[in-house]
Formats: sequence, structure tokens, C-alpha cells
Amino acid sequence: MFNFIPCFLCFSTLFQISFSEQQPQPTTIYELLRSNGLPMGLLPKGVTNFTFDTSGRFEVHLDQACNAKFEDELHYDLNVSGNLTYGQIGGLSGISAQDLFLWFPVKEIRVDIPSSGLIYFDVGVVSKQFSLSSFETPRECLANSNRVVVQSVFKNLSRKFGTRKNDDQEHLTTFL
Ligand SMILES: *[C@@H]1O[C@H](CO)[C@@H](O)[C@H](O)[C@H]1NC(C)=O
Ligand SMILES: *[C@@H]1O[C@H](CO)[C@@H](O)[C@H](O)[C@H]1NC(C)=O
Ligand SMILES: *[C@@H]1O[C@H](CO)[C@@H](O)[C@H](O)[C@H]1NC(C)=O
Ligand SMILES: *[C@@H]1O[C@H](CO)[C@@H](O)[C@H](O)[C@H]1NC(C)=O
Repeated sequence: MFNFIPCFLCFSTLFQISFSEQQPQPTTIYELLRSNGLPMGLLPKGVTNFTFDTSGRFEVHLDQACNAKFEDELHYDLNVSGNLTYGQIGGLSGISAQDLFLWFPVKEIRVDIPSSGLIYFDVGVVSKQFSLSSFETPRECLANSNRVVVQSVFKNLSRKFGTRKNDDQEHLTTFL
């Protein structure tokens, strides 16, 4: 009975020490997305190599550039980066979305707060909306070599017809 109180105290002190040592830092990029109100499926399965700083800037390094199928197909470059704020990724680079057989670099992704069940992909001129639920879980992302062939056909065509390319067109063809 005399030993009970000191022992109880020492246990509770130990408990408090180990509890306060737990870091609130997200351990995966998926948790980071989720803690910012964004769906985890925005990035493909198996991402482990990433950096994140307190300004919200993140960088993700994939093993290979790849494509994942959603309502539209998304293409991920080797490096994906952007600025993460609650409900939004701004200054995005490294993700493009396919529409009408063309690839558009996605510049911004955002969701409504409170959630409307929709997610918006800003591709510069327009913003496309998708159902949020299709991005709930990370997808398999597969290397797609077809794009390379189409790219060189386009480059040859534009060379042949002497098309004067502005920056946007140049950007577009590099994604094809
Ligand atoms: C993470 O990606 C970077 C850039 O591609 C690479 O230099 C680095 O070796 C990678 N780290 C790991 C642990 O794979
Ligand atoms: C990806 O990022 C790494 C490290 O930041 C850099 O060294 C590499 O050149 C980048 N790769 C591409 C394809 O941009
Ligand atoms: C993203 O964050 C970086 C570093 O904080 C900043 O320099 C850059 O302007 C930001 N870009 C956008 C589009 O918000
Ligand atoms: C593009 O043109 C080059 C030569 O200019 C040729 O070697 C290559 O096969 C062409 N590619 C396609 C896909 O037609």
C-alpha cells in the first residue's frame, strides 16, 4: 500500500514523456494530403520519396513517369511539386490531364470547403471538375511509352509545316 502511490506516479511520468515525444509531423505524403483536406488518390500508389517544408512547399520524386486512369487519365512526371494550403495545391508542376487526346498541365487543384463532393483541376484556360470520391484511394500508375511516339510525330509535323510555336504550344507538345 505504501509502494502504490510512488509507483503510480512514476508510471504516469513515463507515460507523459513518451506521449510528448510523439511528433505531429505527417509520415507519408498521403497523410499530408489528407491533413490538408485533399484526397490521397491525387498521387499514385507507393510514393515514399518526398520533401515538405513549413511554407507548404512539397516535392515528390517518382521512380518513373507514369499514367493513372481516373475519369480522365492523369500523367505524372518524375518530379511533382506544388504549394499545399488547406483544400488547395497551387503552383503545381508535374501533373497533366488528358482531354480530347491532348495533355494539359494542371496548374492548380482545389476542393470546396466545406466539401461539395467535387474537385477542380485548373489547366490554365479552364477548370475541369471531377467527383471527389474517384480520388479517394491512390491508384496504380503505369509507365506509358505511347506518349513518346505521339510526341515525335507532332514535333515532325510542326517542323514540316513550320508552325510558329508559342510557349503554351511548346508546353503542350512536350506532354504528348
Ligand atoms: C529521391 O529522389 C531524388 C530525385 O530524383 C533522388 O536523387 C534520391 O536519390 C531519391 N531518394 C531515395 C531515397 O530514393
Ligand atoms: C527531379 O528533382 C531532382 C532533385 O530535385 C533533380 O535533380 C532532377 O533533375 C529532377 N528531374 C526532372 C526530370 O526534372
Ligand atoms: C510556392 O511557394 C514558393 C516557396 O514558398 C514560392 O516561392 C512560390 O511563389 C509559390 N508559388 C505559388 C504559385 O504559389
Ligand atoms: C521524325 O523525323 C526524324 C528525322 O527528322 C525521323 O528520324 C523520325 O523517325 C521521325 N519520327 C516520326 C515518329 O515520324
